[in-house]
Amino acid sequence: MQLTNNTILITGGTSGFGYEFAAQLLALGNTVIITGRNQIKLDQTKKQLPNVHTFQSDVSDPKAITLLFEQVTRQFPDLNILINNAGEMRRLNLLDPTIDQENVNREIAINLSGPIRMVQQFLPHLRTKKSAAILNVTSGLAFIPFPISPIYGATKSGLRAYTQALRVQLKKTSIMVFELVAPAARTPLSDKFEGDVDSKMAMDPDKIVSAAIKGLKNNNFEILPGMAVMLKYLSRIAPGLLFGQFSKVAEKAFTAKK
Ligand SMILES: NC(=O)c1ccc[n+]([C@@H]2O[C@H](COP(=O)([O-])OP(=O)(O)OC[C@H]3O[C@@H](n4cnc5c(N)ncnc54)[C@H](OP(=O)(O)O)[C@@H]3O)[C@@H](O)[C@H]2O)c1
Repeated sequence: MQLTNNTILITGGTSGFGYEFAAQLLALGNTVIITGRNQIKLDQTKKQLPNVHTFQSDVSDPKAITLLFEQVTRQFPDLNILINNAGEMRRLNLLDPTIDQENVNREIAINLSGPIRMVQQFLPHLRTKKSAAILNVTSGLAFIPFPISPIYGATKSGLRAYTQALRVQLKKTSIMVFELVAPAARTPLSDKFEGDVDSKMAMDPDKIVSAAIKGLKNNNFEILPGMAVMLKYLSRIAPGLLFGQFSKVAEKAFTAKK
């Protein structure tokens, strides 16, 4: 698809991939709108990227999504691209007694229900556009469970399955459905895992976002930068190999006493 003169909404645009998407898509001559929960981070981003438009909005809250839709489409009726990027990844010990039902569900509400609700809310609007796209940001961990973050992996596998189904259902519309299967990157999300995983494997987010933009331009619906492609194929030919490695990380961190 053509990547200039679009109006693009990015959830979670104040750091990591979302910030990079905003910077690179602005440089290509698009109107860019970002969201985030933290107003201070939104204001800082606006200082760094003066042309960006910001809305404080929590993607895990359905009422906030409805309000965001009303505000954004009123102010930016040309909106034609939605990037579902906002996400959270936690180190989560399921034996921790303080993790209650609400808490354990948090990544599902943000990473899985969030994009699904965003699409459902914005779909009728996107259908009115001659050229439109939805990009969902999943992860190489969609292919192989990562036991130290048990809910995160489940959300990314779920989002990948949903994205594939959505692409089939929208095949005859003007809306293209993309998936960025991101490999590990150096962002505030992954900084929390220092010591658990080898940070040498992590890529710079700007390179991953450049690959995503190239994929969007070439209508490459499944974008697999760097190690993501290796994770996809290893999960098919030797599924136990990486899972064994990933399991050791969790075993070391949270070995349960009998
Ligand atoms: N970094 C990696 O290694 C990696 C690898 C594969 C996939 N990914 C995926 O890439 C996406 C971006 O991750 P990142 O590494 O760039 O993370 P990040 O640097 O932590 O940025 C996350 C962004 O999302 C926002 N956000 C978080 N929860 C939100 C919510 N409930 N509603 C609205 N905004 C929210 C954050 O702002 P506020 O906190 O202010 O809301 C921030 O702007 C995620 O979906 C992540 O799963 C990351």
